[in-house]
Amino acid sequence: MEKADLLLKVDEKYYPPQEIVEQAWIKDYESLYKQSIEDREGFYSKIAEELEWFQKWDKVLEWNYPYAKWFINGKTNITYNCIDRHVKNGKRNKVAFISIDEEGNEKKVTYGELLDLVSRLANGLKSLGIKKGDRVSIYMPNTVEAAIAMLACARIGAIHSVVFAGFSEGALKIRIDDAKAKAVITATYTKRRGKKIPLFPTVKEAIKDLDFVEKVILWDRDNELSEEYEEHNVVDFYKLIKNSSKDCPPEIQDAEDPLFILYTSGTTGKPKGVLHTTGGYMVNTYMTSKYVFDLKENDIYWCTADVGWITGHSYIVYGPLANGVTSIMMEGVPVYPHPGIWWEYVEKYGVNVFYTAPTAIRMLMRFGDEIPAKYDLSSLKVLGSVGEPINPEAWLWYYKNIGRGKAVIVDTWWQTETGAHMITTVPSYPAKPGKAGKPMFGIEVAVVDKQGNPMPPNQVGHLVIKNPWPSMLRTCWGEPERYEKYWNEIPGYYSAGDLAAIDEEGYIMVVGRADDVLSVAGHRIGTAEVESAIVENHAVTEAAVIGKPNEIKGESIKAFVILKEGYQPSEELKERIKDTVREVLGPIAVPDEIEFVDKLPKTRSGKIMRRLLKARELGLEIGDTSTLEE
Ligand code: WT7
Repeated sequence: MEKADLLLKVDEKYYPPQEIVEQAWIKDYESLYKQSIEDREGFYSKIAEELEWFQKWDKVLEWNYPYAKWFINGKTNITYNCIDRHVKNGKRNKVAFISIDEEGNEKKVTYGELLDLVSRLANGLKSLGIKKGDRVSIYMPNTVEAAIAMLACARIGAIHSVVFAGFSEGALKIRIDDAKAKAVITATYTKRRGKKIPLFPTVKEAIKDLDFVEKVILWDRDNELSEEYEEHNVVDFYKLIKNSSKDCPPEIQDAEDPLFILYTSGTTGKPKGVLHTTGGYMVNTYMTSKYVFDLKENDIYWCTADVGWITGHSYIVYGPLANGVTSIMMEGVPVYPHPGIWWEYVEKYGVNVFYTAPTAIRMLMRFGDEIPAKYDLSSLKVLGSVGEPINPEAWLWYYKNIGRGKAVIVDTWWQTETGAHMITTVPSYPAKPGKAGKPMFGIEVAVVDKQGNPMPPNQVGHLVIKNPWPSMLRTCWGEPERYEKYWNEIPGYYSAGDLAAIDEEGYIMVVGRADDVLSVAGHRIGTAEVESAIVENHAVTEAAVIGKPNEIKGESIKAFVILKEGYQPSEELKERIKDTVREVLGPIAVPDEIEFVDKLPKTRSGKIMRRLLKARELGLEIGDTSTLEE
């Protein structure tokens, strides 16, 4: 179906059930939105007052285009708001995390225990010489230990840089190197589909030549490695916790002190280190978790993302903890040990709010309606979607088979850079399948042409944000020019790099990326990153990568490859090139398809015209080729 037809087809509205509206935090989106725009600073300031500050801010916003500072001179510590505040308010014995491994073993950690573990690890990090402002890379399974590691860094003002455990050595090395991390926190392995994926050996390889890495803190999951420790300057994660004091007063952080770096793909081969700071990020993840998921005191919340991505940072760790709820964390994949495992846990734990990605929904849809039908899913009230556009078919399946008409869907559009939800509907507001919805409080968005002129309704253009917001990225680590580019592409606005359209009622539909960034199974992958991984194979001279529409993954990766003189195209060589990408970047970036070619279309300035390759591949109109070399 053409995109324009799709826009017309998905205009049906789904109204929330009365029970949801009645008990929702936000009953009148329109009026609060209006208020939040008329007095943005007043709005955020009121939210910030719900949290604790060691010293109150003097001013809400200082906007020095394109640099923003929020909550000027405010002092706080995000871990104080995520943990201590709840312990102090009588929630010491409330479960913060239920961390489940692939065998179904669960580890429950209460807010009191979390305070103890985080404080001890924080003291342990200090004892290793890590201090405020130092970077610590975290390469961990999706378990509560990863959250503890992040929070321990935040407790002492060290800047964490989590690297998704699905990335391989090359990707890990670039990220540790760029951040100049003083320590790496890792585990012996993670598990996927019953198989152990080693992590510690990958870390050892990655840091071999990085002499600024002083320590590796290792969660030795099966207590098997004690002898290796001495040689590698490795410290045992749980021993460090055990041997450190449980009293660790939170570092007094300025609102603008860095909280973390998270690398994300851009249009060049090198990932960008998106930097988030303390105060604004805390306020916005707290506010959006509360209002978009309608989180209440006793809710059981489950975000199926991995802590290695921004969704995990904002909506597994910081946002839900700031709201004091009980969260599920699960290691592994949605179909192991069986494709009903997620629904089994929803029933078992009585999950009220469930947040996942369209790619997972499409995959689970394939296994049939009978699978979720076996479980009691009546506890669900809010179903979230994130990471890529959700096609109306998947939306409706999610709505009917998981929500059973009793839960609402919130399709949340945002990015690593935005830190928190930017476009969605809140639970009390009618949703349209396939359209993310309306701007979040305090956010003004537009769909414009390249000069910044608004597009007419239902016409696709560039999605921009018109104002600074508290959880916006502050810079790209070590590369301010890359940061400034977000605000200079279309002057006056923040360019998201996405294409979108707005309908007559103001619902925003995000169509996809406008740049050379792919969305594969909800993961953001730069074409240039995959290309540079491919050319690491000794048989390859040059490569060009495009995304092709894929029913489950959203996009699949196709690579066009030029071989070096003397190499013959073969199926075996294709496999070896795939192995190279797997080793350099990780399984998520492996091309689904490889085609050997003699040359690649280029502009006169030497840039590969991926647009042209894609048009040819999909049998589409080729468009403007005036800059083509030949
Ligand atoms: C890109 C950001 C934000 C957490 C996960 C991804 C796409 C994200 C949606 C949505 C349509 C979406 C955009 C965006 N995207 N959510 N609800 N509808 N597209 O974070 O890796 O920084 O990727 O994901 O293209 O720019 P990310």
